[in-house]
Amino acid sequence: MPSAPGIERSDRLNNSPRPGMRSIPRLTHIHIVDFLQVTEPYRGFSMLLSLPAVLRTPRITLRKPRTADIAVIFDAYAQDADVVRYLLWRPHRAIADTEAFIAYCIEEWDSGRSRPYVLAHQGNEDAAIGMLEASLHAHMIDIGYVLQRKYWGAGLMSEAVRAVSEAALALPHCFRVQASCDTENRASARTLEKAGFMLEGKLSRHLVLPNLAEEPRQSLMYARCK
Ligand SMILES: CC(C)(COP(=O)(O)OP(=O)(O)OC[C@H]1O[C@@H](n2cnc3c(N)ncnc32)[C@H](O)[C@@H]1OP(=O)(O)O)[C@@H](O)C(=O)NCCC(=O)NCCS
Repeated sequence: MPSAPGIERSDRLNNSPRPGMRSIPRLTHIHIVDFLQVTEPYRGFSMLLSLPAVLRTPRITLRKPRTADIAVIFDAYAQDADVVRYLLWRPHRAIADTEAFIAYCIEEWDSGRSRPYVLAHQGNEDAAIGMLEASLHAHMIDIGYVLQRKYWGAGLMSEAVRAVSEAALALPHCFRVQASCDTENRASARTLEKAGFMLEGKLSRHLVLPNLAEEPRQSLMYARCK
């Protein structure tokens, strides 16, 4: 898992070798996803690059992050303790934290390792209001998301999640889009349900959420498959 702060990534599989990269897999930590990536490293890599660079829903544009987003995201939500409560990072204290995070996102995007989309209102695409990251694990895409607090409850994130998951499942080699959330994060669980995801079960001791506890907590696993 990358240590860069910024957006929730709902499953922690990212210590595995990146698809398309020639690094030697860490066999001591191998699991089924690593195995799939090692045996077919390039299939998944091209799959993620096939996700559109820009996605539009009736109200939201999802686009590549830019350096101009740094100040906007810092002011809009990165310092907000209520927004980051269930995320994997602590509130940003200085704009340098957000700067490092956006630099990391641009690098991820350019390398093809993940698609950390910035969310903006249609017609005001310069003003970031949140993010949704799609990352690749063999034939699956894992998503995580965050939205500025003043826009909560208007159905925006379920609209964005639905658009990304449908674009992902339209790709020939993508069979599953998954997301997990803390069992107490009812807004996130409801977002996924509204976007057509099915609850598959509970993952014990799944994620450490540093704003809540030092020990790993229980998550709900949701997925949409084809
Ligand atoms: C989770 C989050 C992205 C949802 O964004 P959003 O645009 O408000 O989501 P939507 O409006 O599409 O759907 C939210 C749903 O949850 C419901 N909800 C919100 N808070 C809730 C709560 N405490 N208990 C139960 N349901 C709740 C809303 O009423 C809505 O459902 P409804 O339309 O049936 O009424 C947003 O709350 C957020 O950014 N939270 C902080 C970051 C986060 O937790 N990210 C997810 C990590 S897994």
